[in-house]
Amino acid sequence: MLLGKRSNEPRLGAVAAVGVAMLASALMAPSPSLSFATKPVTPRSAEAAVASDTLREPPTLQNHSAVPGIVEVELTAAPARLQLVPGGPLVNVWAYNGTVPGPTLDVHEGDSVIVHFQNHLPETTTVHSHGLHLAAADDGSPLNPVAPGQSYDYAFRIPKGYAGTYWYHPHPDKRTTFQVAMGLFGAIIIRDRHDPLAATGIPEKLLILSDNRFNPDGSIAFPDPTSIQASIDLENGREGNVLFVNGQVMPTIPIRRGEVERWRIVNASASRVYRLALPNQQLIHVGSDGGLFEHPREVRDIVLANSGRVEVLVRGTGAAGSAVSLEDLPYNRYMPQTRPADWDSTRTLLSLRETNALPVSPVVIPSELRPIPAIDTSEATMRRTIVMSQGLIDGKTMDLHRVDIRARLGTTEIWTVQNVVGMDHPFHLHGFHFQVLDRGGVPEPYRSWKDLVNVPKHSSVRIVVHFADFPGKWMYHCHILDHEDEGMMGILQTFN
Ligand code: C2O
Ligand code: CU
Ligand code: CU
Repeated sequence: MLLGKRSNEPRLGAVAAVGVAMLASALMAPSPSLSFATKPVTPRSAEAAVASDTLREPPTLQNHSAVPGIVEVELTAAPARLQLVPGGPLVNVWAYNGTVPGPTLDVHEGDSVIVHFQNHLPETTTVHSHGLHLAAADDGSPLNPVAPGQSYDYAFRIPKGYAGTYWYHPHPDKRTTFQVAMGLFGAIIIRDRHDPLAATGIPEKLLILSDNRFNPDGSIAFPDPTSIQASIDLENGREGNVLFVNGQVMPTIPIRRGEVERWRIVNASASRVYRLALPNQQLIHVGSDGGLFEHPREVRDIVLANSGRVEVLVRGTGAAGSAVSLEDLPYNRYMPQTRPADWDSTRTLLSLRETNALPVSPVVIPSELRPIPAIDTSEATMRRTIVMSQGLIDGKTMDLHRVDIRARLGTTEIWTVQNVVGMDHPFHLHGFHFQVLDRGGVPEPYRSWKDLVNVPKHSSVRIVVHFADFPGKWMYHCHILDHEDEGMMGILQTFN
């Protein structure tokens, strides 16, 4: 159970019920410490949208290897002073190579990558490459901490078939929420040299979504651990009221009429789930965590749980000079007791602005993107049920010295991931991509490679995973970072 003070004690359902009841009554009594939770999001006026800059992308990590197929980069996590809020003061942050978000690792399938990492933070950290298939020692899990002042060379080869959008973030024991909130997160793009969309010449953009909250002096706000807000954070996960795209607030993307753009979107928020939509057009959903689908799918909106990624095609369809906002529509992932008062308001993320340039004739979007072979469920030798309750997996919090699941390499397993409580928990597995078989008993209508699947309140999702190679210990957990820190995590050991 996540309410109450931080502790490593396993929490019991009965305690949970009492905690929620206490919190619910506390919520009814107005208290100054609640002001943050109930304060409406600062409205963003049309003027603000016009005044905002054009979307920038984070810098790319410079490859200093001259050897073809080898990518060698330097990554340092260190305190820095940056302006996070437009027009705001310089504030203390923790940054990778001095920027928030950190620089993008942009590589190709087949590349061998070496990340020379240095920890100049005052505390232990790791660099977890979320979604990558690599040796356990290079996964940056809490089992391989990098102490302050230490360095670590993460080395991995990108397998064929892994083209897609990923990201990296700290994953130290119990401090992930804090370190991500301080500014540590960045994108990884893995490219296929024969990408069917790149072949059409469609331009692409990277959009890293994050949110944060600030004190009146502009510094990053963290609640007093004894406050109601701290309890709400433990329950909901930390949400911020300022929404960023690549560290910018409400940036503009110019587009020409007829033009098609590919957006790679990363949800780097600690707990915010986005429901993305453009008011005047269907999104063409072409990919998710592990890259492109087999075929594009037109959708009204897309739910993007935290740590998940989507690739969408958007079109310039409006009149010259007109603009629409990429919206984050309401999505009710919350327990009723701690649901923010403004949960049902629509937020805006960026402005898509039609330029006055002459229209371009639209490219033909390929209907075949790439084959995704189905993992053969008839080969599954093990079926497991993983139960997520509030703060617990299978009734336990994580113990770094315990192994919860053992799986032999070369085998296929079907997992039923069950959420038995009244809020969503996004489930993530390290190291191995899986395929979703069904959600709430409804067969998944299309195939995709996933490392994250949101499991809505009181429902279950079935996934199939094949453990091809790499023996070692892997985390599986709820990706609400506060829940992860609280131990809503288990350890899978793969062995030969
Ligand atoms: Cu984004 Cu355990 O990871
Ligand atoms: Cu991960
Ligand atoms: Cu959770």
